[in-house]
Amino acid sequence: MAIFMKRSIVIEAPAKVNLTLDVKGKRSDGYHELETVMHQVNLLDIIEIAKAAGGIQIKSNSSLIPTNEENLAYQAADMILEKHARHAHIEGVDIFIEKNIPIAAGLAGGSSDAAAVIQGINKLYELGLEEGEMLELAVAIGSDVAFCLAGGSHLARGRGEILSRMPDQFLPFIILVKPDFQLSTAEVYRELDLTQVEESPDNSAFLAAWEDYDIINIARNMGNVLETVCLRKFPEIAAIKAELREMGALNALMSGSGPSVMGIFTEEEQASKARAQFCTRYQEVFLLSSYVKEGYSKGISP
Ligand code: C5P
Repeated sequence: MAIFMKRSIVIEAPAKVNLTLDVKGKRSDGYHELETVMHQVNLLDIIEIAKAAGGIQIKSNSSLIPTNEENLAYQAADMILEKHARHAHIEGVDIFIEKNIPIAAGLAGGSSDAAAVIQGINKLYELGLEEGEMLELAVAIGSDVAFCLAGGSHLARGRGEILSRMPDQFLPFIILVKPDFQLSTAEVYRELDLTQVEESPDNSAFLAAWEDYDIINIARNMGNVLETVCLRKFPEIAAIKAELREMGALNALMSGSGPSVMGIFTEEEQASKARAQFCTRYQEVFLLSSYVKEGYSKGISP
């Protein structure tokens, strides 16, 4: 019987949205102490990882992302090769990133690609890394990578890497509008003045509503203190939020450090109308749902 060794693997890398984001304070290491609800949605980058003779090569359908060590997916591959190359006989990897998640948009696209690379190389080269080992690599790459690795819905604390799993709940109609500009996470945090924050999300109330799948109170308790920085500087974000609400969203919120805005709908017709309306002015508008993982990976080719 012929034994086929896997040569490549394809993994889905979903975007995340922050349904709440509270900043508890600034830490001595420069990071901010967070309490945030992160939730994966079905806006996917597709990552194909293939065994290669040597080195790390990244290609993408998008010319907007770096293909060198600035790319978080490259960093993930580099760390694994560094740590595990010798005993696992890893030579190199070719990575293709089909980019669908808007970049620098508060959706953790780069972090999700990195998480997919960690999972993918682990599987492809049969490294047998435990969850804890993968988490350690994730945290070294970026604050959101741990969540992207864990997936689903989590309350994240610390830099964003201390995760408490929340029940799986399905949000059927999320309209995501990405304004035609990008925001740097580091800059948004740098400009955050905690004394200017007037309203913080009530995470306990949010979690109670989430537990009960009480969609009205889920929506009511959404909140993001980083809006204090971004709405003042970019009134367009506030305008998108208002328009989403006018169009029937139960609530609308900026995700992460922005500038993407999501609206939570319960009626498909309203959500579709909102998408059509925003599509006339914005290039990146999506009608999404919660991400449901169908299996570990989408496909393995011999
Ligand atoms: O961890 P990551 O590299 O994704 O973070 C990007 C930047 O965002 C950090 O360098 C930091 O300035 C800011 N940040 C923060 N507090 C966090 C997460 C990120 O201040 N919890």
